Amino acid sequence: MNPLKHVAIIMDGNGRWGLKYENSRNAGHKAGLKTVEKIIKETIKNKIRFLTLFAFSTENWKRPKKEVDYLFNLLENFLINKIDNLHKQNIRLKILGSKKFSNKLNKLLDYSEKKTSKNTKLQINLALNYGSKLELIDAFKKIKRSHNKINEKNLEKYLQTKHIPDPDILIRTGNTRRLSNFLLWQIAYSEIFFEKKLWPAFTEKDFNKIIIEYKDIKRNFGNI
Ligand code: FPP
Repeated sequence: MNPLKHVAIIMDGNGRWGLKYENSRNAGHKAGLKTVEKIIKETIKNKIRFLTLFAFSTENWKRPKKEVDYLFNLLENFLINKIDNLHKQNIRLKILGSKKFSNKLNKLLDYSEKKTSKNTKLQINLALNYGSKLELIDAFKKIKRSHNKINEKNLEKYLQTKHIPDPDILIRTGNTRRLSNFLLWQIAYSEIFFEKKLWPAFTEKDFNKIIIEYKDIKRNFGNI
């Protein structure tokens, strides 16, 4: 049975779900947040140490301002209402990506990261304004400045995922088979699961089914 330390998820399909059931993309984001909460609980039940969630990409700024504002509002309220509870559950929150949001949200994110920084049960990496190509370019620039050799070990020191093991599993919901500039370096050997369901419709049962399937995969890492 394969050990499982890290699950990464591209939570796709909120907009389509919202339009279909409530005639509003934002309603889909609201429902998507409920799925986030369910999957956090299930991750803990499965004793998985790292959960990485792609919540907003560097490309998502192209969306209408109304939708972007709604998403960040949702995140703000989530942190205001839930960070104490996450902290009590020994959960650490880490942000991947660059914090270029409103002053209020930047402060809230800093506060949440700091408050939970010593927690050890589960680390949730929330990718916000994150893009893998930008992360890699920044890492190469830093190596160049340090005059160190370009090799895997040195590059990984400068990635935002330093100290985080590579994902064992990458899940993408929403019936689309692409990686959307997410953790391109880190998923080199991840097992990838493309799920037809839209994110708000994704359940604990779907999550557990993937985990069970993953555990029996023969992972070769280039060997035979
Ligand atoms: C992709 O679906 C989803 C997002 C860009 C946002 C993800 C946000 C959430 C799951 C809720 C908020 C989470 C937190 C942590 C506050 P899409 O909108 O691209 O869906 P579509 O492909 O159907 O248009």
